[in-house]
Amino acid sequence: MGRLLIVSNRLPVSPEVDADGQVVFHGSVGGLATGLGAFYQRYDSLWIGWLDQPDDVALDRYSVRERLHDEHSCVPIYLDPDDVHLYYHGFSNETIWPVFHHFTQYAVFDEEYWEAYKRVNRRFADTIAEILQPDDILWINDYHLMLLPGMLRERFPDISIGFFLHIPFPSFEIFRMLPWRESIIEGLLGADVLGFHTYDYVRHFLSSVLRLTGHDHQLGRIVIGNRVVKVDAFPMGIDYGRFAEQAEDAETDQAAERLRRDLGDRKFILSVNRLDYTKGIPARLHAYEHFLAEHPGWQRRVGLTMVAVPSREDVEHYQMLKREVDELVGRINGRYGTMDWTPVRYLYRAIPFPELVAMYREADVMLVTPLRDGMNLVAKEFVATKGDDRLGVLILSEMAGASRELGDALSVNPFDLIDIAGALGVALEMDPAEQRERLDSMQGLLSRYDVVAWATDFMEAVDEMRAMRAERGARRLTERAIERIAADYEKARRRLLLLDYDGTLVGFSRKPDAAGPDEELLGLLHKLAADGANEVVVESGRSRETLEPWLGDLNISLVAEHGALQRWRGGDWIAAPVGEALWRDDVRPIMERYVERTPGSSLEVKQYSLVWHYRGADPGLGPLRARELRDALGTLVENYDVAIVEGNRVVEVKPASLTKGRAAVDFLESDDWDFVLAIGDGRTDEEVFHVLPDDAYTVKVGIAGSRAHYRADTVADVRMLLSRLVR
Ligand code: UDP
Ligand code: G6P
Repeated sequence: MGRLLIVSNRLPVSPEVDADGQVVFHGSVGGLATGLGAFYQRYDSLWIGWLDQPDDVALDRYSVRERLHDEHSCVPIYLDPDDVHLYYHGFSNETIWPVFHHFTQYAVFDEEYWEAYKRVNRRFADTIAEILQPDDILWINDYHLMLLPGMLRERFPDISIGFFLHIPFPSFEIFRMLPWRESIIEGLLGADVLGFHTYDYVRHFLSSVLRLTGHDHQLGRIVIGNRVVKVDAFPMGIDYGRFAEQAEDAETDQAAERLRRDLGDRKFILSVNRLDYTKGIPARLHAYEHFLAEHPGWQRRVGLTMVAVPSREDVEHYQMLKREVDELVGRINGRYGTMDWTPVRYLYRAIPFPELVAMYREADVMLVTPLRDGMNLVAKEFVATKGDDRLGVLILSEMAGASRELGDALSVNPFDLIDIAGALGVALEMDPAEQRERLDSMQGLLSRYDVVAWATDFMEAVDEMRAMRAERGARRLTERAIERIAADYEKARRRLLLLDYDGTLVGFSRKPDAAGPDEELLGLLHKLAADGANEVVVESGRSRETLEPWLGDLNISLVAEHGALQRWRGGDWIAAPVGEALWRDDVRPIMERYVERTPGSSLEVKQYSLVWHYRGADPGLGPLRARELRDALGTLVENYDVAIVEGNRVVEVKPASLTKGRAAVDFLESDDWDFVLAIGDGRTDEEVFHVLPDDAYTVKVGIAGSRAHYRADTVADVRMLLSRLVR
């Protein structure tokens, strides 16, 4: 097992010169650094990231780099001031951050920002390339580095890459605004595993992929060329033990005592976040003011402590927010404050860990009301400090990812001031037994699914994809495999070749009628058929009327409609006997209705079956309607002996007894073959693989699961094999 290389924009530690002139490292703020920081130190790992180092002569870069490596397993990347401005403040925080948090009115679309974003992502790729070893696993984090997976994949096709997005992924209607949306999706799809905090973000991402690239997914797996990308939700946990233990620490006791002395016996409402417009700070203050106005009885009996950690101060909207919050706090304190009571204690700074934990521990109400938040760890940290017997109520915005897990918090709409004010009233009056019950249930969940469980889960997914890649690699139709097959082919006297048509001999096209054979294919089939030892069979789901003009002149056998119609070499078409197709009268009107309801789709009427094609339909609507159609048909055809088969962008209803497998058996039993080869890409081809003897050669085109012995990436690989056989 190789090393774990964690990559993020910001390193988990930052250097500083202390009062004695010594260089010290302190932890960085923000969910990513605090959450993952605890995890990575347990592993043989390195953390690669930008070092936001103040200009201080005492901070000699060389020695900082050495100490970061030796003491913190970190590899710093230094950015020049222009890139900090254009890539970090610019593209990351003035373009992606607002768009992904649905603050589109704040978003700046600037080509220069984008160029810098690409440049810095490339810088990261170069640094990683210098230290990367073949077995290493890369874990790339967050929105600053969305191009990095793609850039690394291009240079290292076989490396394992996981990517986790710590912020929301917006719905397609918002994401599509980004002028560089395709490049971003392509960059992300370079990873093997893409992790998001919630299933909603997963859905949004998958729909953007479908809309922008046409790639659909199966249970969150997207096939891109010869790779599979897994997309899933992994709700990030916290280092539960660290918070629970710190809550019992003597240092925390002292800090708590100081706090209580300041607060007296007033109820303590706490709010902690970076000063960020996504956190809903002004709305929270308005709600608190509304609460004081509506419940005068609570005035002087409560106090709100608001910790706002300085963040991204070079970005204009953060400066504007700072002014707004300053004013609001001043106004509320001016209006309601008295000589001995300050309604809002506003702390604009980072709080040392023991003090922060003391605040969580002592808080009666934790007010977490972001307008949009990928996860929100603060809410979880509050719960973890409450031990077995302390009390407290969590008020949590339904727009935070954490609300999906913390069903026992008081849930509020952060845009609804009256809702928040109401929740404050409920929280302050809540019966202690109920408080305890809610905390117990949340603590159970958070202590089990902590940051280590989360990261392990994610890493296991990356590992699973790595194992899959290895397994696929082993079955790949390589040149060596082709030589092995060719050697057996040359020795054999009687050979049976069962070839699927669409997706195997030719690629798919938007219009099914446009997928006729080209000269190269006709030449190949002609040469194969010319060898007297060969029986070449093209087995297709297509109608006889389609196959006949395309392939009818060749000296080969044809199977149409999945086995229902057969034309043995030199003979006429034979139709399989089936009972009267009464089901058609029931099925056809329904399929016709789906054609009308789904622009771009069409109905194909074959001799034995009916097929609804949706390749030309809207990529989001097509699969949805296909599922609906399947359901609608399911009950309808229950009493008939028919099968509903879902193929590549088609839904087909056909007699159940007619399968490609059955037809294959007919050919198999017609002679004493000493070489059998079957190639196909779809589900119906699995029926063929299934009925063949073990020593037959079976080749699956594409990377979906299959019982075939070999796997070819594309139609071109299939043609390469056939060319080798006729050589
Ligand atoms: N935090 C901190 N110092 C502080 C206040 C908060 O280190 O003074 C930490 C807090 O413990 C939490 C993180 O910052 O782990 C904030 O993460 P969250 O997911 O709540 O929000 P983000 O800042 O990532 O948007
Ligand atoms: C959020 C982001 C992190 C970021 C943190 C602090 O949690 O998801 O990637 O590090 O905010 O923001 P900053 O801009 O200071 O790194």
